[in-house]
Order: sequence, then structure tokens, then C-alpha cells
Amino acid sequence: MNTPITCFPQHDSSKQFLQESSDIMYQYAKKNCLNNHTCDCFWYHSSWQYLRLFGGVHSQELHFNSYKDFFTQNRHNDLNILISGTADYAILHHLHPFLISHSNKIQIYIIDICTTPLKICQWYVDRLQLPDNITFTTIREDIFRCSLPNNFFNLITSYSFISRFKHVQQKEIIEIWKKLLNKYGSIITSDRVMQRERYDTAFKESNLDKKKFVEKIMTRYNQKGIKLSITKATLAAMAYKYIDQIRTYSIASDLQFKNLFFPLKTTHETKLIRGEASTPWIYTSIMASNSNHTS
Ligand SMILES: C[S@@+](CC[C@H](N)C(=O)[O-])C[C@H]1O[C@@H](n2cnc3c(N)ncnc32)[C@H](O)[C@@H]1O
Repeated sequence: MNTPITCFPQHDSSKQFLQESSDIMYQYAKKNCLNNHTCDCFWYHSSWQYLRLFGGVHSQELHFNSYKDFFTQNRHNDLNILISGTADYAILHHLHPFLISHSNKIQIYIIDICTTPLKICQWYVDRLQLPDNITFTTIREDIFRCSLPNNFFNLITSYSFISRFKHVQQKEIIEIWKKLLNKYGSIITSDRVMQRERYDTAFKESNLDKKKFVEKIMTRYNQKGIKLSITKATLAAMAYKYIDQIRTYSIASDLQFKNLFFPLKTTHETKLIRGEASTPWIYTSIMASNSNHTS
């Protein structure tokens, strides 16, 4: 049975750093994304934090309950944690209170196909000055060619990762995650669930919604009066490029999402959150575990 949907404009607490880091991430993107021949990501990584700063895109704390359960269940264990694809340091920020309360050893690995998000995560970690029991490694790699060891991770986590890929690739990614997971490990991830007529084509915003999205960003920019290194016109162009380019391959239903993790045991929570433009998104957060922790 599906969990009832709760309305969810939840706190995006990592915003406190964004004013400073969005300009820094833009510089990283100019240096790294434009020289990245494996993916076309400048439009995405250069704009991501500016759009987050003005509430156009979000990084909600959808995993709070699952992280809490995971860290409670593993309170006496050394932990290997993998963040699998991340636009910026938002997941690290959401994990941070749990990380610093854990007294055993923690090794955190972040994998992304592009250097830009890895660099902004490193920037964030340098600011936080994590305690000595926590180590942090960034890996620039394509998840499909990932060289990380199998049966190694206690926790693999991501946010809106698999809906960036077509359905056949979504299955492949989850199979890769399952191999990387150790026998007591858990996968905690959230993604967009939406019934649509065709799943082989991506969801795209309408032209009207693209226009409204840019207007929303510019209204907030004018209201907030935040000084950025980019001009107003550049911000407007970035916002348009982002909403024009972004593609989402949403998952058909909670059941289909859960089935992807079989034979792991799953629990899930479903939330309604603001979308980029006017379409609200139903997000399902899954915790899938090898052991019977979640039963
Ligand atoms: C985690 S996803 C989406 C994050 C964001 N929260 C959202 O809602 O759009 C985006 C990240 O995945 C990375 N990525 C895309 N393809 C990848 C691949 N094949 N292997 C590893 N990382 C990849 C991108 O570089 C990007 O930083």
C-alpha cells in the first residue's frame, strides 16, 4: 500500500552557504565543465547553485528519517559511505549532523562524472573541518564504469540521480549499487514518481512554464538584492538554459521504484514538493537494505 502523500515545502538548510559558494561553483564550472568531454554539463553546474539560491531548484531533506534509522542501526560500526552523483554539497550537508555524531571511523566517497561538483564538495568539507575519524575522497568517474570495490559500502545515497537517465540505465545503475553494497548495507535515494503516457521520452517543461520559471528567478533576484559576480542578464540566460535543457525520466510508480531494488528489503516515504516550474513533483524516498534492518 502506498504511503499517503504529505505536502512538503521542507527546509533547504544548506542555503546558508549558497551566497558564497554559488560564485565559486560558477568559476569551477567555467574551468572544468567547459573542458569536460564526457558530458555536456556547463549549463547545469554553472547555474545550479544560483538557481538554488533563488528557490528555482531544491535540495530537500527528504532522507532525514532514513538517515536517522541508518545511523541508529549502525551506531557501533565503521562506515563506508558513497554519494553517487551530486550536483553540489547538499547531500553532504544533510548527512553532516549524523556524521559528526558518529564516533566510529567513516570513509566518505563522492563519485561524479564531472570535477565541478566534486570541487564544491571539497570546498564545503574544507570549511566544515570534519573530525579526524572521518575521511573524504572525491572520484571523478562515470558510474557505469565505476572502479569502486564491490561489497564495500554500508551506505550508498543519492538524490534525483536515476531520473536523469533512461529507464534501462536506471536498472543498470541500481544493479551497480547493489554490487557495491556490503551485506549489511543500505541504499537511500529519492526520485520523481509520476504516471505518464510515455516513459521512453523525457518530461520537459512547457514554453509557458519555462518563461514563468525565469520570471520567478528574476523576481527573487530583484527582491533579495544579493550581489553576485554575474550580471542580471547572465542569470536570466542561465535560468532559461537550465529549464530548457533539463530532462527527467520519472519513475512510473512507487511499486516500480521498489521493484528495481529487489531482492533488497525496502521501506519508502512519499512527499509532494515544489517542482522547478509550476508542475509539483511527487518524490519517493526509498531505503533498500541487504539485511533485515528495515523489516
Ligand atoms: C545527482 S544528479 C541530480 C542532482 C540534483 N539534486 C537534481 O535534483 O537535479 C546530477 C549529478 O549527476 C552527475 N552525473 C550525471 N551522469 C553521471 C554518470 N554517468 N556518472 C556519475 N555522475 C553522473 C552530474 O554530473 C551531476 O552532478
